[in-house]
Amino acid sequence: MNRLEGKRALITGAARGIGKAFAKAYLAEGASVVLLDLDGEAADRTARELGPGACARRLDVSNVAEVDRVVAELAAEAPIDILINNAALFDMAPVNEVEEGSYDKLFAVNVKGPLFMMRAVSRAMIEAGRGGRIINMASQAGRRGEALVTVYCATKAAMISMTQSAGLALVKHGINVNAIAPGVVDGDHWDHVDALFAKYENRPIGEKKRLVGEAVPFGRMGTAEDLTGMAVFLASDDSRYVVAQTYNVDGGNWMS
Ligand SMILES: NC(=O)c1ccc[n+]([C@@H]2O[C@H](COP(=O)([O-])OP(=O)(O)OC[C@H]3O[C@@H](n4cnc5c(N)ncnc54)[C@H](O)[C@@H]3O)[C@@H](O)[C@H]2O)c1
Repeated sequence: MNRLEGKRALITGAARGIGKAFAKAYLAEGASVVLLDLDGEAADRTARELGPGACARRLDVSNVAEVDRVVAELAAEAPIDILINNAALFDMAPVNEVEEGSYDKLFAVNVKGPLFMMRAVSRAMIEAGRGGRIINMASQAGRRGEALVTVYCATKAAMISMTQSAGLALVKHGINVNAIAPGVVDGDHWDHVDALFAKYENRPIGEKKRLVGEAVPFGRMGTAEDLTGMAVFLASDDSRYVVAQTYNVDGGNWMS
């Protein structure tokens, strides 16, 4: 407990799902959290639900001018110690059916967004001179190709690569950059994935989700809460010598 006492974290895409669970875990460890989400109203509701120590701001991470403005305003209020680049979009299509609009949207949110969040927040952290932590949400999808998941896989491979370069660049400023690669985590995101598989593989709704859960060596899909231990570790002083890494937290899924 209190491993993050006095720290202030920005979490993108924190209105729901994994980002919300991270916010809750950070609050329990003594941090304050700013929930940043495209859906400002949902982020506000989540912040109220999480209680004191949580606040929300609407932010579209794919809008660089907005990212720079919001991060500058937040940094002027109080130092930023932790950034979690968590917001992302998912879409599905084999390479011969990929649409340009889907490519543009996914790369804007999943790659451009976290890159320019890192730029803005690392500048603020360097100026404040107290180091920091950046945690990027990658995926098992970034470690391999999947026939139907061309673009999303590419964005998550980019996330792993950006984590390596940013980690090497920022370590001299006392800023550790690392990433988490989940496997399959139950929630709204996977409901959307399941619906797309139903369409492409002509399956009933829910079947793909059941099958991927059964295939996880741990015996079930992950929950957002299964990832919070790693997210707290990577934000805490316990990870001070961990730099530019991507950790699988996936119930053994990638290894199998
Ligand atoms: N759920 C999984 O199985 C799984 C597996 C591997 C990796 N991940 C990764 O974990 C992270 C969180 O996943 P999740 O399951 O909680 O997703 P989710 O879809 O439930 O939540 C994503 C959040 O991001 C927000 N968002 C979308 N576009 C945005 C934008 N332009 N700017 C700001 N916010 C925006 C959404 O409003 C939503 O609140 C993502 O990076 C995802 O790729 C998830």
